[in-house]
Amino acid sequence: MKSEVIITIENLTKRFPEGDSEFTALSKINLEFSRGEFAGVVGPSGSGKTTLLNIIGSLDKPTEGRVSVLSNDISKLSHKESAMLRNMHIGFIFQVYNLLPVYTVFENVEFALMLQKKSKSERTKSVMEALEWVGLQDIPNKKVTKLSGGEGQRVAIARAMVKKPELVIADEPTANLDAVNAHSILETMKNLNKEFNTTFLFSTHDEKVMSYLDRIIHLRDGKLESDEIIHHKITAK
Ligand SMILES: Nc1ncnc2c1ncn2[C@@H]1O[C@H](COP(=O)(O)OP(=O)(O)O)[C@@H](O)[C@H]1O
Ligand SMILES: [Mg+2]
Repeated sequence: MKSEVIITIENLTKRFPEGDSEFTALSKINLEFSRGEFAGVVGPSGSGKTTLLNIIGSLDKPTEGRVSVLSNDISKLSHKESAMLRNMHIGFIFQVYNLLPVYTVFENVEFALMLQKKSKSERTKSVMEALEWVGLQDIPNKKVTKLSGGEGQRVAIARAMVKKPELVIADEPTANLDAVNAHSILETMKNLNKEFNTTFLFSTHDEKVMSYLDRIIHLRDGKLESDEIIHHKITAK
């Protein structure tokens, strides 16, 4: 089966202004990702993981090189077109969950659908379905300030997945979770990856996350150090 390439990165360089000069956060990166991958970018703090994910997620622009995401040339997108790409096709999960504090579980997930033209009843159906995926269907009306860390990250996953995006970007999603919750949300994400063929891109330095990945890309000082496909042993349950 030929896999469909949905992200192409050619000679990507990203520089940030630093005083009177510039700092090179990413240098001449070449990568491709296919639909349905469960892949992660790994490397020490400051190696450029977030910068790379932000550019793929159209939150930032390349300085040089070409990045194509779902047939969109990231450099050429207007502000509005970038927002549209994110709203329709990309879900984000961050280390800090970025939930809206005064709202409920339901409302936080529903918010991701507000920019899409859907009726209230369609939204309710989609939100409740997404809450079932993450096991929060019994507490839709709980305020997110009352949730545990693991529950908060589940809301963030539901919010990222409710629009059934083609791509989910998860930047250190387990950094604030204990081991039990980390494994549990990784299982949930892996199940969603299998069920919907959603492409997941992680950044992490957590061994627990790495044990789930099918592909690990190592960055060091903004350079691609290695790119390996992981062959998981199939173990009998
Ligand atoms: N907006 C910015 N302005 C200036 N420097 C930045 C900016 N974003 C990131 N950097 C620098 O780029 C490097 C890579 O950062 P980052 O991509 O956040 O690394 P990681 O996610 O691997 O920890 C760091 O040295 C960081 O200080
Ligand atoms: Mg980072």
